[in-house]
Amino acid sequence: MTSTPNERTEATSSQQGGAPEDLGAMTGNVVRFADLKSRPIPLMFIDSIIPGHQRHNYAVIGDTASENDSYEPFITSPHGFQVGVVRARQGNGPAYHTHDYIESFLPLKGRWRFYWGESADKVDGETILEEFDYVTLPPKLWRGFECIDPGESWIFAVLEKHEVYEGKDPYWAPSVIEKAREYGFEASENGKMIKPDNFAELERQMLDQFGDA
Ligand SMILES: [Fe+2]
Repeated sequence: MTSTPNERTEATSSQQGGAPEDLGAMTGNVVRFADLKSRPIPLMFIDSIIPGHQRHNYAVIGDTASENDSYEPFITSPHGFQVGVVRARQGNGPAYHTHDYIESFLPLKGRWRFYWGESADKVDGETILEEFDYVTLPPKLWRGFECIDPGESWIFAVLEKHEVYEGKDPYWAPSVIEKAREYGFEASENGKMIKPDNFAELERQMLDQFGDA
């Protein structure tokens, strides 16, 4: 189906007015924020249960480095990169970890503190990202981050393409592994989450952390 630019404008207007949408060749390539928000992954990683690291992850394109394998990304067609979104309350964010590939971030809401280091037991530097600032983290560098503003914050992530469940990913600092173990969470040698018996109950609790899941 073809249309003139004017017809396309009308189609957009009617879609905004609630009429059914026909994306044609773009079917499956548009992700609405309302849909994204309704599909959080509350325990995507073994640290997601630890106070100070609790968050909701959202998989927009590809696997986005999950240890928990029970979720569906919105876009699964091959891309040369992967896209995720993270939502967290003040003082929460991913614990100290690293990857074999690049990951980069852009705060959408709130300010986020990033800290990094050459080894798992030492932080060498930190910076605060304002909304719409950008940071890219090289492979192997240890990193963690947290939102620092009151309420909840959001951050957008782009990850270099990588294979999943071929090894540990992320690599967690030993202190993080120890803490996650206290809650019954482990990661296998191929990077898959080994879930505690009460996983469903914990997942429900973490789903409720923003009060609108
Ligand atoms: Fe990461």
